[in-house]
Amino acid sequence: MFPPPTPILFCICISLIFSNFAASKETEVVGYGYTISNVNYEDLSGTSLTANLKLIKSSSIYGPDISNLKLVASLETKDRLRIRITDSTHQRWEIPEEVIPRSSHYSFHSLNSYDLNQEPKLSLTTPNSDLIFSLHNTIPFGFTVSRKSSNDILFDASPDPSDPSTFLVFKDQYLQLSSSLPRERASIYGLGEHTKASFKLKPNQTLTMWNMDNGANLDLNLYGFHPFYLDLRKGSMDGRAKAGATHGVLLLNSNGMDVVYDGDRITYKVIGGMIDLYFFTGSSPEQVMEQYTELIGRPAPMPYWSFGFHQCRYGYKDVSDLESVIGNYSKANIPLEVMWTDIDSMDAYKDFTLDPINFPLDKMRKFVDTLHQNGQKYVPILDPGISVNNSYATYVRGLEADIYIKRNGVNYLGQVWPGPVYFPDFLNPHCQEFWGNEIKLFRELLPFDGLWLDMNEIANFNTSPPNPSSNLDNPPYIINDSGIQKSINTRTIPATSSHYGNITEYDAHNLYGLLQSKATYKALRDITGKRPFILSRSTFVSSGRYAAHWTGDNAATWNDLAYSIPSILNFGIFGIPMIGADICGFGPNTTEELCRRWIQLGAFYPFARDHSDKSSTRQELYLWDSVASSARKVLALRYRLLPYLYTLMYEANSKGTPIARPLFFSFPEDVTTHDISSQFLLGKGVLVSPVLESGAVTVNAYFPAGNWFDLFNFTNSVSAESGKYVTLDAPSDHINVHVGEGNILVMQGEAMTTEASKKTPFHLVVVVSSSKTSYGQVYLDNGETLEISGENEEWTLVRFYAVLHNTGVFITSDIVNARFALDQKLIIEKITFLGVPKKKRLSKVNMVSNELNIENGIVQIHADNLSQFMSIEVSELSQLIGEKFELEIEMTMF
Ligand SMILES: *[C@@H]1O[C@H](CO)[C@@H](O)[C@H](O)[C@H]1NC(C)=O
Ligand SMILES: *[C@@H]1O[C@H](CO)[C@@H](O)[C@H](O)[C@H]1NC(C)=O
Ligand SMILES: *[C@@H]1O[C@H](CO)[C@@H](O)[C@H](O)[C@H]1NC(C)=O
Ligand SMILES: *[C@@H]1O[C@H](CO)[C@@H](O)[C@H](O)[C@H]1NC(C)=O
Ligand SMILES: *[C@@H]1O[C@H](CO)[C@@H](O)[C@H](O)[C@H]1NC(C)=O
Ligand SMILES: *[C@@H]1O[C@H](CO)[C@@H](O)[C@H](O)[C@H]1NC(C)=O
Ligand SMILES: *[C@@H]1O[C@H](CO)[C@@H](O)[C@H](O)[C@H]1NC(C)=O
Ligand SMILES: *[C@@H]1O[C@H](CO)[C@@H](O)[C@H](O)[C@H]1NC(C)=O
Repeated sequence: MFPPPTPILFCICISLIFSNFAASKETEVVGYGYTISNVNYEDLSGTSLTANLKLIKSSSIYGPDISNLKLVASLETKDRLRIRITDSTHQRWEIPEEVIPRSSHYSFHSLNSYDLNQEPKLSLTTPNSDLIFSLHNTIPFGFTVSRKSSNDILFDASPDPSDPSTFLVFKDQYLQLSSSLPRERASIYGLGEHTKASFKLKPNQTLTMWNMDNGANLDLNLYGFHPFYLDLRKGSMDGRAKAGATHGVLLLNSNGMDVVYDGDRITYKVIGGMIDLYFFTGSSPEQVMEQYTELIGRPAPMPYWSFGFHQCRYGYKDVSDLESVIGNYSKANIPLEVMWTDIDSMDAYKDFTLDPINFPLDKMRKFVDTLHQNGQKYVPILDPGISVNNSYATYVRGLEADIYIKRNGVNYLGQVWPGPVYFPDFLNPHCQEFWGNEIKLFRELLPFDGLWLDMNEIANFNTSPPNPSSNLDNPPYIINDSGIQKSINTRTIPATSSHYGNITEYDAHNLYGLLQSKATYKALRDITGKRPFILSRSTFVSSGRYAAHWTGDNAATWNDLAYSIPSILNFGIFGIPMIGADICGFGPNTTEELCRRWIQLGAFYPFARDHSDKSSTRQELYLWDSVASSARKVLALRYRLLPYLYTLMYEANSKGTPIARPLFFSFPEDVTTHDISSQFLLGKGVLVSPVLESGAVTVNAYFPAGNWFDLFNFTNSVSAESGKYVTLDAPSDHINVHVGEGNILVMQGEAMTTEASKKTPFHLVVVVSSSKTSYGQVYLDNGETLEISGENEEWTLVRFYAVLHNTGVFITSDIVNARFALDQKLIIEKITFLGVPKKKRLSKVNMVSNELNIENGIVQIHADNLSQFMSIEVSELSQLIGEKFELEIEMTMF
């Protein structure tokens, strides 16, 4: 402990010099900006700075300006800067701490006290932070955020005095903030939810955010709200900023907004709340994700079974239809892990009910029991709207608990599948008890394994918005809702509806899916004591803590097949790594070829589910021989990769790293990867290069530098000295999936269920490298306990390292925790080394385990004339995975 320093308050008083720049303009502009009236360092740690801002001149466009603002910049951690700008005299709406806890996350890593002898200045940094915040005492004022180590300006909100669209504007229902960007160097990703043709944002577009059931249409605001972006830079001319440096920016605000991206600038136009900006310093993409999810919460752990294959359809007729689907999957030898039902199974579309004719309880109960006996799972659907019907017990209990959303003092009446409905208000503290109890009662009847939350934007079929009763229903600035500036009340509940605590729907609209996911998560956790699986259509910042997501009602078209890649990559960076698109397309009718190509790609989505619309033809994978045979092939590889996928889930949960990642996560310095939207990586090193066009039997795929091996056939490899495009064969039954140099994959055997695959022995696939140590890890547990790497130690984490020597190859394991694997007697049966240069001959094999030399295993060397490499396979091992080992294969040159 050191003695507290004497408080010193710096005050910079700046006399306002009014220039006549604004007066020279004849037409009124939306705002004239603010000046700095004083700056204080109230925080003795030197990690925060406060500035009072004064309006230069008022404008009446979009309502009156707020005259006095307060700006607080704080380095909450060395890697996270927060800039908050709000009304200095009146409290404004912000996302409640209970919804997204923030201050409790503050971790002031090794604070360095600010040098108080320095002259007062307008900037903020600490010795161990790479971020510098600088205020600019210009008229109007501006600020920048820079990276200290490279001098790179990351966010430049210094206004262009000749362009009022670059000024800070702060009105009750219109906030504007703009930053210039280095067009040639900055690639921007994120800002969703939208279906996009390209992962990297193209200039000249408005990204609108307002949660909406918009049928996954290209470029329109969709179901979720994520005002977060990654800014990945190319190197700077002076060489100080190196290619691949990445930072993240979050505007933590729940009000509707347009984000205008024109290449040179990014401009936020927001219809409420406050400016609450967070910067995450990176500088690798993975570090940005670690820093971002430290703030918003790490992604929820997912149960092991959720990585199996899922089948769903809107339009299953009855229980025997479901049984027939399951039977046909089994007959076709295609793994099916989870059977889903859409609203068909409900009685008159009422939540927590079963259709007494087609899906009667006794038959459903038997159906679910049989699934469970076969190691399979069942997931039903819930919509938020509760049918208004006095003979419906759930409805009555909701009325009694008084938990429905209101408007003008009475419960707001919407229209969804059941007809008239009321919507539970998840901001109401009593709603948790109501919702949890309904789930509990229903689960006592039918022991489902997870829940699917649909229509929670909230979708409302009451398409005619009520007459605007205030500026909330009809705000002065109209966001580009649905691409045609629709009223924000369209197809949802009116903005003047009110939540508990008199919170308006105007402010809380976009939080609904998050709040419902959170309540559902708590309920399932308390009821089952296990890791919940929840799939939610609507999401918000931090939804990943509770739920998985699918991309909604995509189209069964080749375009939508391709668009699914930007969508899954976006949700990875939104902190919702368990993500997939409806395989074969939701509707209209798919085709055999499209469905075949879609399962080839979909088998490598983190979440793999086939789902179709009632009005389109069926598309279960067994329906066409060619689709079935492709499905068997690709799902076999998926199931063999389950320990790898599950370990990626573990990494996502511990560090926020996405499961499916853009190529630049592993190769940020290779600028070609910055533009790629048609391929992705699973983890660090599994490259998926799908066919996305009808009729194509080749694919032009990019390979970053290194040696890459076909996971379906190790003989086939691609060697890229530097990154290059390669045209690969992609016959109709094939997708190209390669593992790159430097990776060790922990795999298991294929099986029809994840439960069966978990019982198969392990296989390590080691891709050696002449330039680096190969690395891989595996996390194992029972797949369903609430805690990941919990104190009970019923889990295993093992890391593997391998090197290529002049004299051979060597692999060893590092046991972080062994308990689970030892209890289960899990063994490694086979180790395959790929990428060993030819012209070497085996001379000796040493296997050391527990300090005992063991004569064990059969070593086979495979070399053919097709490639420059040979593979070495050590098989028939029985090495406990929970026990440290070393394996050395000595070789001599020819
Ligand atoms: C974006 O708009 C600007 C100005 O209208 C234009 O000069 C530029 O070519 C456009 N860029 C693209 C990629 O469309
Ligand atoms: C299952 O396969 C049988 C035999 O091919 C077929 O008659 C039946 O319609 C299939 N059921 C479903 C739901 O696809
Ligand atoms: C209310 O629910 C009952 C029982 O499910 C049903 O028979 C009745 O038709 C419903 N009434 C309305 C108005 O939907
Ligand atoms: C609104 O979105 C549509 C569709 O993306 C676009 O064509 C249009 O230019 C946008 N309008 C505005 C005002 O941004
Ligand atoms: C609730 O909010 C509305 C709109 O902001 C306001 O007019 C009303 O006075 C508030 N009512 C209460 C009880 O605070
Ligand atoms: C989808 O296929 C069904 C059955 O073949 C057919 O009746 C229907 O017209 C098709 N729908 C469309 C939109 O093509
Ligand atoms: C693997 O690929 C090689 C070369 O393309 C081919 O000769 C071989 O038959 C393939 N092996 C299998 C099992 O498909
Ligand atoms: C491999 O190449 C050698 C020499 O180039 C040749 O003699 C041999 O027949 C080839 N083997 C095969 C299987 O093609």
